[in-house]
Amino acid sequence: MQTTVFSSEQDIARTAGEIFCGFARRKPKAVFGFATGSTPLGAYSYMVSEYRAGRTSFSQIKTFNLDEYCGLPKDHQNSFFAFMQQNLFSQTDIVAENIHFLDGTAADVRKECERYDAKINAAGGIDVQLLGIGCNGHIGFNEPGNYFSEGSFKVKLTANTMEENSVYFDDAEMPGYALTMGIGSIFRARKIVLIALGEQKAQAINEMLRGKITPRCPASILKLHDNVSVFLDETAASLVRDIV
Ligand code: GLP
Repeated sequence: MQTTVFSSEQDIARTAGEIFCGFARRKPKAVFGFATGSTPLGAYSYMVSEYRAGRTSFSQIKTFNLDEYCGLPKDHQNSFFAFMQQNLFSQTDIVAENIHFLDGTAADVRKECERYDAKINAAGGIDVQLLGIGCNGHIGFNEPGNYFSEGSFKVKLTANTMEENSVYFDDAEMPGYALTMGIGSIFRARKIVLIALGEQKAQAINEMLRGKITPRCPASILKLHDNVSVFLDETAASLVRDIV
């Protein structure tokens, strides 16, 4: 794991965004794994600005998002699909048929998860995966548990996660379940970029970097991956300054 502490969020956004733009320029048919939440927004704006400036096209890239809430149709204002549509997809030349999402409304969850994992495999796996981190160390919606999951699955969100994400639900009730890509699929991405911003992430970063590898802190598995960049602002790095 290569950990870098940045003095501004803007530098993180530019560095992370440029990794994706660079991939798109060198490998126009690259496969991108995307995350939702406030953390990746800067990187997405950077990608939008590079597209608008005519320096990067995403017209052939394929995208896979980490997760989606159960019960929310794509066009629901709080769906992760809507989030991506608003903050990235609709503002670039990413093509609709190249956008892949777990369907939170699928009647047969097992089949839906198998479909999604098969799509990722058929695309040749993920070239570069963007990740945030939950305050409890979750990645995607892989909550702390007793084992590392392999493929996509339905997860019951923890009370912590519900609280953290409920800020996005003004008018609707937040679903208590989600479909998420498994740790196995995330781990097989050839490159991973994990961003953490803010003091509220400091403990999770401390546990990820310093603690043992355990499903109690799902992000800790990333220590076994040979191509992970961790980008931190100074507050997220506040408990690990002695080691990074
Ligand atoms: C949700 C998402 C995660 C994300 C996390 C942190 O749980 N499923 O992928 O990393 O939120 O969100 P934020 O970036 O808003 O702190």
